[in-house]
Amino acid sequence: FPLKPYNTFGIEAKAKLFARFESVQELQTLLQMPELRQEEKLILGGGSNLLFTKDFDGLVLQNGIKGIQVVHEDEAHVLVKAGGGEVWHDFVLYALQQNYGGAENLSLIPGTVGAAPLQNIGAYGVELKDIFHELEAVHLETGEIRTFDNASCKFGYRESIFKNEMKGQYIVTSVTFRLYKKHTLNTSYGAITTTLEEMQVQQPNIQDISAAVCHIRQSKLPDPKQIGNAGSFFKNPEIPLEQYEQLKQQYAAIPSYPVSDTTVKVPAGWLIEQCGWKGKVLGNYGVHKNQALVLVNYGGAKGEHVRQLAYNIIASVDKKFGIRLHPEVNIL
Ligand code: EPU
Repeated sequence: FPLKPYNTFGIEAKAKLFARFESVQELQTLLQMPELRQEEKLILGGGSNLLFTKDFDGLVLQNGIKGIQVVHEDEAHVLVKAGGGEVWHDFVLYALQQNYGGAENLSLIPGTVGAAPLQNIGAYGVELKDIFHELEAVHLETGEIRTFDNASCKFGYRESIFKNEMKGQYIVTSVTFRLYKKHTLNTSYGAITTTLEEMQVQQPNIQDISAAVCHIRQSKLPDPKQIGNAGSFFKNPEIPLEQYEQLKQQYAAIPSYPVSDTTVKVPAGWLIEQCGWKGKVLGNYGVHKNQALVLVNYGGAKGEHVRQLAYNIIASVDKKFGIRLHPEVNIL
């Protein structure tokens, strides 16, 4: 079964088996089928955070559970439940249409609602965990439905329990978000303010914030429909403040974001650019010209080659700065 249409990197790979489910029941039925029980399983959302380096010798399950509805409401908040198979940006558009605040900074992130909690998607000063209420997930072996609240997901920077202790154990079938009727805008990310000024917006609303975020993303990040990619390939590394101070003596321009009293985050894009990788073209793959954190497939690239490029980047950043980058993308 060809997986190329199901991964935004546009890598050619095959799966032994493929099934799509559109309800929790359909999923449970699939999981109970004796001939599928022993198969290794891969859950696919939008395929926007994956790099295939070989064929998948098991069952790929595509989440097709749709639907968005309000499940609870009070003066200030609304709880909105969305099917795991909804396209993430469609959920954001729904919130904007209903004038529910909280999701606008997360506009245009590729992928699905069900995949979003796995890596606690984040952008422009907001993370999924900030608007997350709870999720429902089905256990792959028992078929049991379980609810996880915010704390039990153990969200961190691009992290959750589903990437760690419970990796590969659950399929997220729905997510309930806590959105706001009265809006607090998050304009902490500098480029949002400057973009709003360019747009000549004086008193922004959530729709303006979304427009600004879309504008920034489109100017920096390649559209997977045009150039294969999976967004940031690496996480921004966290390093001890002490190490940062030392690096600063040698590289005065090194940027940072505070994490705690003793650690800072350094943008991996900056480190990679300093090592000369930005815009590098290696035949049919390379490093994006506007954002060094994004690896790209110009068409027909082999996943194995992209992985090798990632390793070479890790090695050169380590050599120059003594900082170890970690992939954010799931390499299979
Ligand atoms: N920079 C460079 N060269 C580059 C890229 C970045 O020097 O080629 C430096 C600049 O100093 C820039 C700073 O890095 O000011 C930060 O860059 P940017 O604002 O583009 O954000 P990022 O830290 O590179 C993170 C997320 C993105 C998210 C943006 C905006 C990670 C791994 N990535 O990138 O998320 O959209 O912030 O909030 O945390 C994703 O996860 O797929 C993703 C795109």
